[in-house]
Amino acid sequence: MSGVYARTIFPWLLELSVGGERFARERAKALRSAYGEVLEVGFGTGLNLPHYPRGVTRLVALDPEQMLPAKVSKRISAVSFPVERVRQTGERLPFAANRFDCVVTTLTLCTVADPVRVLREIRRVLRPGGTYLFLEHGRGTKPRVARLQDWLNLPWKYSGVARGCNINRPIDSLIVQSGLRIASLERYVLGRPRILTEMYRGFATS
Ligand SMILES: C[S@@+](CC[C@H](N)C(=O)[O-])C[C@H]1O[C@@H](n2cnc3c(N)ncnc32)[C@H](O)[C@@H]1O
Repeated sequence: MSGVYARTIFPWLLELSVGGERFARERAKALRSAYGEVLEVGFGTGLNLPHYPRGVTRLVALDPEQMLPAKVSKRISAVSFPVERVRQTGERLPFAANRFDCVVTTLTLCTVADPVRVLREIRRVLRPGGTYLFLEHGRGTKPRVARLQDWLNLPWKYSGVARGCNINRPIDSLIVQSGLRIASLERYVLGRPRILTEMYRGFATS
């Protein structure tokens, strides 16, 4: 993906598609038990920032891209905890083991190149008893939806609009494969089109 597209068009598409009220409610629900030192993998444009609860003491915000710098700085200055930005992919996290109380991903496991590797890294950097909180979209429960997702995944992924987003990843199985233990999982459909809105929300422990 070209740098110009990544820095200009994609961030605005992101704001329009997942920056509204509907996703704000989803973000708040997914993040309500975040606390302590938190790592967010795939920070994007900081849309989760207003939804972190009081118990969060510090956020490390990791993303390979730095998008909409002015908007993101404004969002960062509006929260009460310090935010450190790290420009890096999640497949190799530059942190010691057992460091974070919580790790968060929202709408990110669809896009990373190697989701199981990212999840293994998340497990490594979570302190024992720490929590991985997730809000993701992925593979549908109904076979006919999953089949349609399989057919449309490649055209969607390489369409230019989606910037590498996969619509058919079985998020729960990927989490389990990484060795994390799912403690809570909600599966639901968040509007239409269903191939893009099969949701997975919950948390897992190391
Ligand atoms: C669809 S956006 C979601 C952004 C944000 N999490 C949100 O909920 O609005 C996916 C994000 O994942 C980031 N990303 C892509 N590949 C990644 C990787 N390998 N590791 C970490 N983040 C990655 C992208 O730069 C982008 O910010």
